[in-house]
Parts: sequence; C-alpha cells; structure tokens
Amino acid sequence: MSLLPSFWAVIPAAGVGARMRADRPKQYLDLCGRSLLERTLDCFLGHPRLRGLAVSLAPEDPWWPTLACARDARILRAPGGRERADSVLGGLLLLAEQGATDGDWVLVHDAARPNLRRDDLDRLLAELAQDPVGGLLGVPARDTLKRVGRDGRVSETVDRSQVWLAYTPQMFRLGALRDALSAGLAAGAAITDEASAMEWAGHAPRLVEGRVDNIKVTTPEDLQRLQVVFAEA
Ligand code: CTP
Ligand code: MG
Repeated sequence: MSLLPSFWAVIPAAGVGARMRADRPKQYLDLCGRSLLERTLDCFLGHPRLRGLAVSLAPEDPWWPTLACARDARILRAPGGRERADSVLGGLLLLAEQGATDGDWVLVHDAARPNLRRDDLDRLLAELAQDPVGGLLGVPARDTLKRVGRDGRVSETVDRSQVWLAYTPQMFRLGALRDALSAGLAAGAAITDEASAMEWAGHAPRLVEGRVDNIKVTTPEDLQRLQVVFAEA
C-alpha cells in the first residue's frame, strides 16, 4: 500500500444530464439515500494518498450548496465549462494554484460514476505508478461487436479482442494533461475523455482492467441498475 503514489483528483460535475431527462442534473439524483455526487466523492475523500480534490461545477449551480459536502474544506470548487474537457481544465488550473506541480498525478473521474470501489482505484494507482504516460480504467468488450450502416444493417463484425470500453478514473501527469486538453480544445479536436486528449497529443495511454459495475449513469436504466447494487450492499 505504501507503494501507491500520492495524487490529486478532478471530478467534472458541470453537465446537465440531458439523456437522463430528470428534473435536475443526474449527479444530484438520489441513489439509496445519498446523491450520486456524494457517493462519487466518498471513494476519493477516504483515500490516504489524496493531496487535494476539485469539483467542477456549473456557474450558479443551485444544488451543490444543499449537499453536506459543500461545507467540506478539503473540496475545492472549480468553474465548469461548455464541454467536459473545459470543466476538467478548470479543475486542473485550480489544483495548480493550490500547489500541484506539472509532474504530479491527477485522477479525473466522472461525477456520474458513483460505484468506484477502492480496490479499482488502488489497482489503477499501483499499475500506473511508474508509467511514463498514465492511463485509465476500462473493461474489455464482452459481446460480439457489429458495425452498422445508416440502413440499420450490419456492414461488418468488428474484432472484439481489440476493443475496450473506457471508464474513469483516468490518470495522467498534470502538466501533460493540461497541455493536451488545451491544445486539443483550441484545435477543435473531438475530446470525449482525458485519454482522447492525450492520444491526440501523440501519447499512448495504458488500459487497466477494472470492475464492470463501475458504470456511468447516463439513462434512467443505469440508475435502476445501481439502485439494485446499492440496495444489496
Ligand atoms: N461534464 C462536465 N462539464 C460539461 C459536460 C459534462 O463537467 N460541460 C461532466 C458531467 O457532469 C459528468 C461527466 O462529465 O459527470 C460525464 O459526462 P456525461 O455523462 O456526458 O454527463 P452530461 O453531459 O451531464 O450528460 P448528457 O451528455 O446526457 O447531457
Ligand atoms: Mg455529456
């Protein structure tokens, strides 16, 4: 355990959750008595190697102040932006103001992914501690994959052995990630996660296999699945 590196964390929580079609952004929905966002933060705030944590929030977010953790002095409030990458960048810049340096590890984790387990977090930290680039949690594709044409018909079966689903946390050095995100955003590149910014900048992030149930809540069905998991715990 002592081999685990110390790290900073950024939790982007400035999305609107359009696909969830709820009365508030999904990170503020209830999951067995507590909000998704509070459950997401738990795994990080309880970690002895955490040096600091920023949550990126939409301007004038009316829900954040209602959470108990809004009064937790360890949590920094960063400005969210238009895209997820803007929100992450806001968090990185705030951590740098707090003393994080370019060579420090930063873990970025979706606010809407509340079932991160400590063993997954520790495996990511341990596996990447000596890595020159960094990487992310992911899971290998399990089902047979089909490429589908506009007509709704299969055009090809894709080789499953080469396909993984990208999860979070994603773990990179602060300076390299900041530079990749800002250059990628400026160039209008398609950046859907931190790894894609790093790839765009010419790096090859490493995949670390994680638990399948570290799911991101995107639609109401995802929340129902997690309600079953948390009710059993
Ligand atoms: N996020 C963010 N800033 C944005 C967009 C997204 O901080 N401008 C965050 C979300 O709050 C979420 C994570 O990035 O924790 C993953 O994004 P996603 O699942 O797409 O969430 P939303 O954008 O909120 O959902 P949707 O795409 O359905 O609107
Ligand atoms: Mg989104």
